[in-house]
Amino acid sequence: METTNQNKLMKKSLFVLLLAILSQISFAQVQLSDEEIEQKIDEIIPQLSLREKVDMCHAQSKFSSPGVPRLGIPEIWMSDGPHGVRAEINWDNWGYAGWTNDSITAFPALTCLAASFNPEAALEYGVAVGEEARYRKKDILLGPGVNIYRTPLNGRNFEYMGEDPYLASKMVIPYIKGVQSNGVSACVKHYALNNQEEWRGHINVNVDDRTLHEIYLPAFKAAVTEGGVWSLMGAYNKYNGQHATTNKVLMNDILKGEWGFDGVVVSDWGSAHDTDESALNGLDIEMGSWTNGLTASRDFAYSDYYLADPFYAKLKSGEIAESVVNDKVRRILRLMFHTNMNMARNFGCKNNKEHHDVARKVATEGIVLLKNEDNFFPIDPETTKTIAVIGENATKMMTLGGGSSELKAQYEISPLEGIQKRFSKATILHSMGYSSGPSWYGSVVEPKENQDSLYQAALETAKKADLILFVGGLNKDHHQDCEGGDRLSYDLPFNQNALLKDIININPNTAVILVSGNAVAMPWLNNIKALVQAWYLGSETGNAIADILSGDVNPSGKLPFSFPVKLEDNAAHSFGELSYPGDSIDEYYKEGILVGYRWFDTKKIKPQFPFGYGLSYTNFEYGDLKTDKKAYTADDNVTVSFTVKNTGKVAGSEVTQLYVSDPKCSVMRPAKELKGFDKIMLQPGESKEVSISVPVSSFAFYSEENHKWVVEPGKFILQINSSSADNQLKGTIEVN
Ligand code: BGC
Repeated sequence: METTNQNKLMKKSLFVLLLAILSQISFAQVQLSDEEIEQKIDEIIPQLSLREKVDMCHAQSKFSSPGVPRLGIPEIWMSDGPHGVRAEINWDNWGYAGWTNDSITAFPALTCLAASFNPEAALEYGVAVGEEARYRKKDILLGPGVNIYRTPLNGRNFEYMGEDPYLASKMVIPYIKGVQSNGVSACVKHYALNNQEEWRGHINVNVDDRTLHEIYLPAFKAAVTEGGVWSLMGAYNKYNGQHATTNKVLMNDILKGEWGFDGVVVSDWGSAHDTDESALNGLDIEMGSWTNGLTASRDFAYSDYYLADPFYAKLKSGEIAESVVNDKVRRILRLMFHTNMNMARNFGCKNNKEHHDVARKVATEGIVLLKNEDNFFPIDPETTKTIAVIGENATKMMTLGGGSSELKAQYEISPLEGIQKRFSKATILHSMGYSSGPSWYGSVVEPKENQDSLYQAALETAKKADLILFVGGLNKDHHQDCEGGDRLSYDLPFNQNALLKDIININPNTAVILVSGNAVAMPWLNNIKALVQAWYLGSETGNAIADILSGDVNPSGKLPFSFPVKLEDNAAHSFGELSYPGDSIDEYYKEGILVGYRWFDTKKIKPQFPFGYGLSYTNFEYGDLKTDKKAYTADDNVTVSFTVKNTGKVAGSEVTQLYVSDPKCSVMRPAKELKGFDKIMLQPGESKEVSISVPVSSFAFYSEENHKWVVEPGKFILQINSSSADNQLKGTIEVN
């Protein structure tokens, strides 16, 4: 008996030993160092035929590019992006494949993530969405988007991270690291200057160098140099008269030159327009929209791509050197060794509790409380009797629509459902108030419902309630928050302003919950009690909204972009049509670096709500500002410390914000710029010391003359704020 046990034990130890040895061997095989990857690539490239190399540089289906089966090199599979993994699309047209296993967790759109001002939340978000992408067998997730919020009319603002390059940079880095920890490449987009949908395919953006470097490039640069992103998507629009995707300055000089990007440039779908430009100006994989290989007259239309047969012909004749395609293949293989040729990557998972928790956490952290007269919120679920929930957005599914970021969510809890569940002791009345109609990408359809009856029914409902929650805003249809078109007006659509006015007349105990990815005009603001900016929150929408309304979670989101009172107050719009949307050929960014709060502050125009603004159910008191030194050199870090105390009755988080101004400079500087932030959580009565450390070099401006970043010696003013417009503490330092 004993011997048998001993034998068993021995066998077991041997097995464990063998496993250990095997895993060491396979570990050594799969965890390649950068150097080993380059060696492998050196070995692979000579084995590839010219045709095989060219094939790797263009699409073979809507979302994949070919591998080389002969050598065991796999295909690359991509998916949108950016706030969830899109449902399977047909091989060769835009229809959905109708799979039953491709529903996912819908995470909040990136405006909400940015509003959390919480880089740790961005990491958790990236890990979770990356796990879902990996489970769905995707090698590249087409996101995140970091185009700067220039105008509230841009239909795709909801996909991006706001108006401030520093905030977008700090949030994009952890998102990328999180996604890529799964062996899935993030694909930061749309590089660059794709700041509107109107004429996005051809509008030529004229912007000065300083503005390009200070406002529109930093988040992309951070994605590359700090996030280590493995792929990047070129944009549709033009810059300097050349399409962005194949733009010499953007791709060769800046991205692959100055920033040393060694990853893959993927075109936006159909954003390449020329073989020489595509070959020579940095494009590595050409993807497309406007071909249909199965039904068009050609056998295989993908062969007509600029980086397909025409590229092959030029390589074959020697007109383009073979080193050009070799460089593309090297980049593609490098991405593969991190993704589909990385045997160590995990298997991923989707729709698990952890992902739902991340979605809910980011959603509640990003919701912004904008007004709260007489402590309207939180509403007590135990004592409130009758609540009227009015507005189409209380029930409209917002994971549908919006263009390429549309999702097939496993579930989406509507605001109404969330409110009904959390306020189960109250009577909840519901009325749509208006209907937007069944619209889809690229077209608007008149609604069938009788608008007048919906309107009257809403007023009747308003009469019966103790309080009203108006859940309105925009939606994901064409000319709203949607790809492929811009908004046509700054106002709320579907007659909501008139309806709200009448509702308030009946019952002024009204709060508005704005579901949108953009700022809107608010002529009713003074007459409502409270206002919540609720973004597009994904699967957990209703739960997250109820968390905030009930006070289960104390709001801590801050606006990632300014809300102007009227459209003309926004910088881009104040310069007329050539500045936005352009004349259909050219567009001039006449406001230069004065985008968002930089404009409002410098020009002393009061916004409706400033960048960085958001209320809490508690109050914070700031004090004791200190810097570690009084004088610095341009190579130093400045460490700013101060205390924050929660002086209210509930726990809460505050986003403390460091702004810097350069009062005396040889060039114009914005009144102030965000250079650091820290989100802290405080119990009632608790006080904490906060330290924010930033490099003095980040105070630089981009010198057009010398093409470099310059910090001029002199005084710099440091402000600690609770929003861009609300200064709490101020200090001065000297830079020598
Ligand atoms: C969008 C991209 C998207 C791609 C693939 C394009 O129209 O601009 O953001 O990733 O389609 O769906």
